[in-house]
Order: sequence, then C-alpha cells, then structure tokens
Amino acid sequence: MTILVSGKNGQLGKELQDIASADSTHKFVFFDREELNIADKNVLQYAFENYQPSFFINCAAYTAVDKAETEQEQAYLINAEAVGNIAKQCQQSNTKLIHISTDYVFNGKGTSPYKPDDKTDPVNYYGYTKLLGEQLAINNNPNTNIIRTSWVYSKYGNNFVKTMLRLMKERKEINVVNDQRGSPTYAKDLAEAILEIVDSEQLTVNNSLLTTHRSPIYHFSNEGIISWYDFAVAIKDIKQLDCVVNPIPTTSYPTPAKRPAYSGLDKTKIANTFNIHLKDWKQSLNECLRAL
Ligand SMILES: NC(=O)c1ccc[n+]([C@@H]2O[C@H](COP(=O)([O-])OP(=O)(O)OC[C@H]3O[C@@H](n4cnc5c(N)ncnc54)[C@H](OP(=O)(O)O)[C@@H]3O)[C@@H](O)[C@H]2O)c1
Repeated sequence: MTILVSGKNGQLGKELQDIASADSTHKFVFFDREELNIADKNVLQYAFENYQPSFFINCAAYTAVDKAETEQEQAYLINAEAVGNIAKQCQQSNTKLIHISTDYVFNGKGTSPYKPDDKTDPVNYYGYTKLLGEQLAINNNPNTNIIRTSWVYSKYGNNFVKTMLRLMKERKEINVVNDQRGSPTYAKDLAEAILEIVDSEQLTVNNSLLTTHRSPIYHFSNEGIISWYDFAVAIKDIKQLDCVVNPIPTTSYPTPAKRPAYSGLDKTKIANTFNIHLKDWKQSLNECLRAL
C-alpha cells in the first residue's frame, strides 16, 4: 500500500517521517514543496499516475495566519483551490484523502468544546481558506477524512513552544495573552493518530464495510483547554526558567488577523471511531521538551 504525503518539511510532515522510518508495513513517499507543489495540477496528476496511492495525507498548507490577511491569493490557492484539486485526483484514483484543517474555522464565541458538525464562522482569512478547502475536499471526494486540529507544536519548525523557550532565555520578563483559550497539539501525537486512522480505514476498505455514510470531519488535539499564558507558564516551569511571565489581554497584543477567543475541540468522535487515545496536554508538552 502506497501512502503519499505532501508538505514533508512542515511540523506534521517531519513527525510523520520519523514514525514512517520505523514502519515497514506501508510504503510512504514524502514530498516537499519543490517535489510536489500542491498548487500545480500537472505535478499532482503525475504523482497520482506514477504512484497509484491508496492514501494521500495532505500536510501542506499556507499556515502564516497573519500574512494571509494580505497574501490572500496565495493562501486561497494553497488552502482551498489546491485541496480541491487533490480531492479530485483522489476521487479519480480511488485514493483515500486525509486532509488537515484547523480550529480557526470557528468564531470562538462558543463556551464548550466545538463538535465537528457545529456551525463554522471563521474570523480571519486563513480560517476562511481552510474552511473552503474542507468544503472543496468533501464535495470533490466523499472518500475524505478531514482532521481539524489546534495550536500545533513540535521539535521541528517554528511554533509557540520554541518561540517561548527562545524569549524566556533572552528576556527577564515576557507578556502572554491569557484570554484566548484552546488546546495544544503535539504534532507527534497527531501524526500517530493519522497513522491509526490509515490502518483503520484500510481495514474498512478491505472488509468492504463502507456501507454507512458518516460525516468526514473529526477533531484532534491534546486533552485540556488552557490559555496561551497557561501554556507559557507550563513551559517555564518544566524547563525551570527564571523569566517572569505576565498575563495580558488580547487587546494589548494586536495582530493583523483576529483569533477566536475560544477554540476547544470535542474529540469524542475521533476517539470512538478510531479507538484513539488522547494524551493530556502537559504530558505531551513534557515529551516534546525532552525531545528538543
Ligand atoms: N501550526 C498550527 O498551529 C496549526 C493549527 C491548526 C491547524 N494546522 C494545520 O495543520 C496542518 C499542518 O500544519 P504544520 O504546523 O505542520 O504546518 P507547517 O509547519 O507550516 O508546514 C506546512 C508545510 O506546507 C508546505 N507548503 C506550503 N505551500 C505548499 C505548496 N504549494 N506545495 C507543497 N507544500 C507546500 C510548506 O513548505 P515550506 O517548508 O517550503 O514552506 C511547509 O513545509 C496544516 O494543514 C495546518 O493548516 C496547523
């Protein structure tokens, strides 16, 4: 069984590569942007014809949330149009698509964890393009799984954890927003969950049990809903750093793109459907900090 993975140099792409290197049961083919630009229809078509994949895991995305406000064309092309084209190719090749989306499809006015079928209403352009990508993927290929995740970090790439570690070492005091709440996601945990879904879907296809229609949207993050301030304090405590961390309101830290104030995700569906164990956010943070 061949599994194609786009965006191999991103946080999730790298964590998937680490796991794949110890997995001899599947044939993985990883692509970076140069090898497979998902916005290039011809290159996509060639990859599908060449590899005849059983699964396509799309880890490629335009993830610069603030820049997306001004680079709208680029964000739309990668997060929406290209995802629609991948889904079309998957449909033609009978390939299962696993696509990653975001908590930023919600407006953040909720007060309890969002369920996969709750009303979407993105508050920034990145979230809008990711929502369009979900819709195009599902419309073009019903054989799609969308996994929405939030606050992704890893030992790879740029993320909140690495930024906090750097700032806490450079400065005596830092300010961190304490009125945006959500759940961190260790990219390694997400990568493991994706591969459990692959195995589970493979069994389903093999047993021809694809008779019941279910909504293809799932939520995944670590367990626990916290603020960015709580997250920063935990990093400081685990690493035993001296820096003072001050809580501040979002209004004191204006950004080009608005963020949802609350983006807790209800993960019951992914846990029950694929028998996925969800780890506590602090346990996973400890694991990542040890790996860094
Ligand atoms: N990061 C978060 O906090 C977060 C939160 C919620 C959801 N998500 C979603 O989770 C998924 C994985 O995110 P991540 O944090 O791993 O992202 P990431 O680290 O920013 O990686 C994205 C990767 O996509 C690649 N890419 C961009 N445009 C491409 C194109 N046209 N063709 C092929 N590759 C392209 C980038 O290539 P280069 O290396 O060349 O730039 C990069 O390696 C994304 O769908 C993202 O929207 C992320």
